[in-house]
Amino acid sequence: MNRLIIHADLPKGHISKDIQGQFSEHLGRCIYGGLYVGEQSDIPNVNGIRQDVVQALREIRIPTLRWPGGCFADEYHWKDGIGPKSARKKMVNTHWGGVTEDNSFGTHEFMELCRQLGCDAYICGNVGSGTVQEMSEWVEYMTSDAISPMTELRRQNGRQEPWNLKYFGVGNESWGCGGNMTAEYYANEYRRYQTFVRQYRPDAKIYKIACGPSDFSFDWTEVLMKNAGRYMDGLSLHYYTVPHEWKHKGSALDFTREDYCITLEKTLKMDELIARHGAIMDRYDPEKRVGLIIDEWGTWYDVEPGTNPGFLYQQNTMRDAIVAGLNLNIFNKHCDRVHMTNIAQMINVLQAMILTEGPQMIKTPTYYAFRLFSAHQENELLESHLTAEKWKTEKGELPGLQESCSLAADGSVVVTLVNPSLDGGSEVRIEVQGKDVSRVEGRVLSGGMGDYNSFDEPDRVQDRAFDDFRLENGILTAKVPSCGVVRLILA
Ligand code: AHR
Repeated sequence: MNRLIIHADLPKGHISKDIQGQFSEHLGRCIYGGLYVGEQSDIPNVNGIRQDVVQALREIRIPTLRWPGGCFADEYHWKDGIGPKSARKKMVNTHWGGVTEDNSFGTHEFMELCRQLGCDAYICGNVGSGTVQEMSEWVEYMTSDAISPMTELRRQNGRQEPWNLKYFGVGNESWGCGGNMTAEYYANEYRRYQTFVRQYRPDAKIYKIACGPSDFSFDWTEVLMKNAGRYMDGLSLHYYTVPHEWKHKGSALDFTREDYCITLEKTLKMDELIARHGAIMDRYDPEKRVGLIIDEWGTWYDVEPGTNPGFLYQQNTMRDAIVAGLNLNIFNKHCDRVHMTNIAQMINVLQAMILTEGPQMIKTPTYYAFRLFSAHQENELLESHLTAEKWKTEKGELPGLQESCSLAADGSVVVTLVNPSLDGGSEVRIEVQGKDVSRVEGRVLSGGMGDYNSFDEPDRVQDRAFDDFRLENGILTAKVPSCGVVRLILA
């Protein structure tokens, strides 16, 4: 039988809540229609932000939100998005569908959204088409409490106090849509731009994130760490799970068992990527001061038929929930280096938590996976050893089970187990060393690989109470259903 040994007395590192961060870009219906509908909308809103969505997102405890891009960030000029809305400049969103961006959602609205969600702000600045002055003034506008032209402007626009800005990214994908720079060139630019991302208040440190590599571009990591490592707090990594080639990525809903296996195989590369980029970082930063910030990850399929190709709208199934579970377990296990991740994207774009259609809203299977994993936030990762049979697939093998375990502040142990197999449940014997377990609470999310929530059937997939376990003489035996995620809380 599969066997999991958890060392409750061997904490290995802190799992930042930000490992479950989110990303929202001015792309398709992520901001407009998804999060922001404007004060005049019939959809219930507070200051233009829709309340059904806020309420749903508060339940999964969004820790951090990245904005305004993505590729959009390097075209965004923040001063166009402040002041009276009627006077705000309109622009073309060239990356995403060529639609008109009216800038009605800007800095004040984003900070209001973070307030309503109860999360921290992660803003990505414009290096590609912006100036050092523009970036520097944006940070001053948001975070300074001194008397200066920027803080006066903020006050004129109705905000007296500075905001807290936890994370600031200096450019996005500067090797691609953010300016097609070489690593050497960007490293110099990063050094210059970040110099003027000032910390205006002693108690409000801004964690600076340099643009890092895409998937297997190890050279980028090497150059950035070597040339600019000491000026950064974090280095980003982008890795998307794309089942097939970029031209025909595959459908979100209409997929085969083989597509499912390929998707999981590709998503599991995340572990190797973190290890290999991490090994390069270790050479320059053995103390692991610099965080690996995986600020774009998730599945990327062909858009839903009939939708704007530039809007990246895709449905979401149990396959996505398994992808989310596998990745969140991987991130937990690398919490010494991974300080934050941001799934792309929170709503209506790529691997979303929520989908909307006018006033309607549904929660995706990925949403429920995040809800289960939220119990790990701010816990201590525990040493754990899983010996599990592989799942033999037609073309090879995949893990039969995968886990991560953490110690909560109240002394309970949180275990998340993912069973990717489509061929049956997986029984596991769980021994906890260093703790007497007398009570177990379980929840499960499972179904067929293609199960999803639709606007006609919004509650088909959701997590539910789990009782397929027994606790005898301190040994727990649980059966994790196929295509399933189980969370156990051991007290
Ligand atoms: O998330 C969609 C896009 O993917 C982002 O804008 C960009 O950074 C990445 O290529």
